[in-house]
Amino acid sequence: MPKVNILTDKKIIEVKDGYPLIDMCEDHDTSILFGCRDGACGACMIKIIEGEQFVSPMQDNERDFLETMAAAPNERLACQCKVSGDITIEVSE
Ligand code: FES
Repeated sequence: MPKVNILTDKKIIEVKDGYPLIDMCEDHDTSILFGCRDGACGACMIKIIEGEQFVSPMQDNERDFLETMAAAPNERLACQCKVSGDITIEVSE
């Protein structure tokens, strides 16, 4: 099972293959915050430190939003991400 290492929380959480990060955060107490849950508010912005290839590909709406925010290349919206392998993330500041 994929493991999500959340550096910000010093927590490693195992998830089912293809599991949405937003569901993982609802199942566990994490410091990743959510607002719109639809890729439109930026509350859930995270940095992928390792394992970018194990996060679901970015869709147009997420890409457009991150460009508007001038996000770093490794930043993603957690509400739009599913996990298929071991990743390491932290909450964006
Ligand atoms: S919760 Fe709003 S962009 Fe993810």
